[in-house]
Amino acid sequence: MNQSVSTAPAPDRSSATGVTRFERYMQIHGSIDGWFSRESAAIWDSLLEFQAADGVRGNMLEIGVWEGKSAALTAMHARPGETVHLADLDLKIEPIQRALGAARPEPGVEFTTIAGDSRDLNVSPLVAEEFGRHRFIHIDGEHTARAVTNDLALANQLLAPQGVVVVDDFFSWLYPQITEAVLRYVRQFPDDFALFLCGYNKAYLARPHYVHRYLEACATRLPAQLEARGVVSTIAKTTYPAELNTFGIGPRFQEMPLRGPDWDPKTIRV
Ligand SMILES: C[S@@+](CC[C@H](N)C(=O)[O-])C[C@H]1O[C@@H](n2cnc3c(N)ncnc32)[C@H](O)[C@@H]1O
Repeated sequence: MNQSVSTAPAPDRSSATGVTRFERYMQIHGSIDGWFSRESAAIWDSLLEFQAADGVRGNMLEIGVWEGKSAALTAMHARPGETVHLADLDLKIEPIQRALGAARPEPGVEFTTIAGDSRDLNVSPLVAEEFGRHRFIHIDGEHTARAVTNDLALANQLLAPQGVVVVDDFFSWLYPQITEAVLRYVRQFPDDFALFLCGYNKAYLARPHYVHRYLEACATRLPAQLEARGVVSTIAKTTYPAELNTFGIGPRFQEMPLRGPDWDPKTIRV
């Protein structure tokens, strides 16, 4: 079931050429088929840099890889000793291998591919072997509520205390069941997951005891980091944290990179 993927890793020469990791990713973004916007890539790049700065380490998992468009960015952020697990019902090994090769991950990063229905992962050795050891999990497989609920339950077993779970197609008109499944899961397990950011089709969850760090990062670092990556956005918290402590993110609104409530747009409470 598990298979290692060879990627011909090359050293990261970003600093030598002055090309940042995000620019390097955007150079290969167009050549990989899939569904992963520049805006989401910029958010991920920023969150993963934040994890590195905060000393967060761990493995990564993607459920729903297609040809490796989003996986290539996680591959660029993985550090030696970490493993990136790529799970898909129908693994496209050759394109995935090409995408990972183009990402030029650091030597010492391991990749595994897991073929099959993600529902089977709940009873796979992965759960026992890597319980609580993943710092970044992307759920982008089957888009039914049942599958997303299953994938969130798996993520709940695997996620590290400081990790992030991303769910694709949150707030998508095409898949309203995903929004329902995520909100229902968070409401059912409020001690396990808190929704700290949503927008550009994705939901971002963290552990409740650590979510304040990501909320702070959204308020203090993310606006400038997105700007630096050429993404002109507004990050908004339009109500009191006690009501819903979640930032929304979307295209620039009222010329404000950060936007508070309607009655006090300049105040951001985390
Ligand atoms: C939208 S694509 C993923 C896009 C990808 N993340 C990207 O960066 O372009 C959805 C993927 O989920 C896979 N998939 C569908 N049902 C699945 C299941 N039950 N378990 C695992 N993967 C599944 C599909 O084979 C497909 O490759």
